[in-house]
Amino acid sequence: MAGGGDSWSMSTLRRLPPETINRIAAGEVVERPASVVKELVENALDAQAQSIDIEIEEGGKARIVINDDGHGMSRDELLLAVERHATSKLAPDDEGEWDLLAISTMGFRGEALPSIGSVARLGLTTQRSGEDAWALRIEGGTQSGPEPAPPLGLSGTRIEVRDLFFLRCRRD
Ligand SMILES: Nc1ncnc2c1ncn2[C@@H]1O[C@H](COP(=O)(O)OP(=O)(O)OP(=O)(O)O)[C@@H](O)[C@H]1O
Ligand SMILES: [Mg+2]
Repeated sequence: MAGGGDSWSMSTLRRLPPETINRIAAGEVVERPASVVKELVENALDAQAQSIDIEIEEGGKARIVINDDGHGMSRDELLLAVERHATSKLAPDDEGEWDLLAISTMGFRGEALPSIGSVARLGLTTQRSGEDAWALRIEGGTQSGPEPAPPLGLSGTRIEVRDLFFLRCRRD
């Protein structure tokens, strides 16, 4: 049943590095450009946006931009938003229980933005009403920012996704 010498070296049991784990997980969320649009529109709706602008180039593979006029994020929220398993949409009840059957938002996993950030060039600019605007970028899992950004308007979020799936799997 077991293979010969060569196939044994192929089957060495090893732990995957974190960035590879993230990219495998991203495949569950981002199958195609339409999945990115769906996730970002759902986030805009969860942020109570009244208006959502969508720009798409080359079927979404080259560029997707979503602008919303929702409640936006503070600098600290922006930092957490791109961290895996961080969400504002699930919270424990008074007994400390996390009720997964009482979800009233479209998102709840805290997966979409970090997944997109691990398979594309992701830029976020956001502003809460009465606060400064902040921008953050992630390219292939490497983050820069948050840094101050030009104001967006009253409140809202602009997300730009470029070069979806630009990363190739590299064999070391
Ligand atoms: N357009 C937006 N406006 C305001 N806040 C946003 C926006 N998009 C994301 N966020 C914030 O960033 C967090 C992370 O977003 P993300 O889509 O990764 O996860 P989620 O929506 O919580 O869950 P899911 O992975 O199921 O979509 C959200 O919980 C929300 O707090
Ligand atoms: Mg979401």
